Amino acid sequence: MKFFVDTAEISEIRELAETGLLDGVTTNPSLIAKSGRKITEVIAEICDVVSGPVSAEVAATEYGQMMKEAEVLSRIAPNVAVKVPLTPDGLRACHSLSQKGVMVNVTLCFSAAQALLAAKAGAAFISPFVGRLDDIGQNGMDLIADITQIYNNYPAIRTEVLVASIRNPIHLIEAAKMGADVATIPPAVIRQLYAHPLTDKGLAAFLADWAKTGQTIA
Ligand code: G3P
Repeated sequence: MKFFVDTAEISEIRELAETGLLDGVTTNPSLIAKSGRKITEVIAEICDVVSGPVSAEVAATEYGQMMKEAEVLSRIAPNVAVKVPLTPDGLRACHSLSQKGVMVNVTLCFSAAQALLAAKAGAAFISPFVGRLDDIGQNGMDLIADITQIYNNYPAIRTEVLVASIRNPIHLIEAAKMGADVATIPPAVIRQLYAHPLTDKGLAAFLADWAKTGQTIA
């Protein structure tokens, strides 16, 4: 399973890239707004740090303007994935861009029917938002189960399931059990993945015993 980080904070991205566990980055207009920086500069900087896909979202809602914005964003670096919303214009743009060899991430997916449309439009990634479905009393993970099942029925579908709006490690583990290709995870949840009280307790005991030996290794 590929791990992307869902942030536009370059310091967080640099730190995670150093772990060697980071496969890509996703951003959205809210995350860019939070960074307080110009989108083209932030995306260029992220692409210098991460060689995997870096999603940069268009802000237009109309096809022609989306295509213009997509051109600006995809010119930043070869690893930019242009993110478009799951709307008729967004899927039309997805189809045109994918025909031109541009990687497209279709975002704001909340149903299996929408995911099927995105696959037909040639999306490289479909982004179903699990946390936001949970927020309205639906089970976000049911959507991942449906999409993975449907995509697996058609080997010709190349679209990768990119689980988004992840709020906790359980979302990630459930998604991995279902065989989702990618998870985009907020930095705070990535840090949670490392944690287990028995790891901390075990390490403290090992270090205490080691200190008693008076030895050093290097
Ligand atoms: O970037 C898309 C998605 O991951 C947003 O998550 O937490 O704002 O629902 P959230």
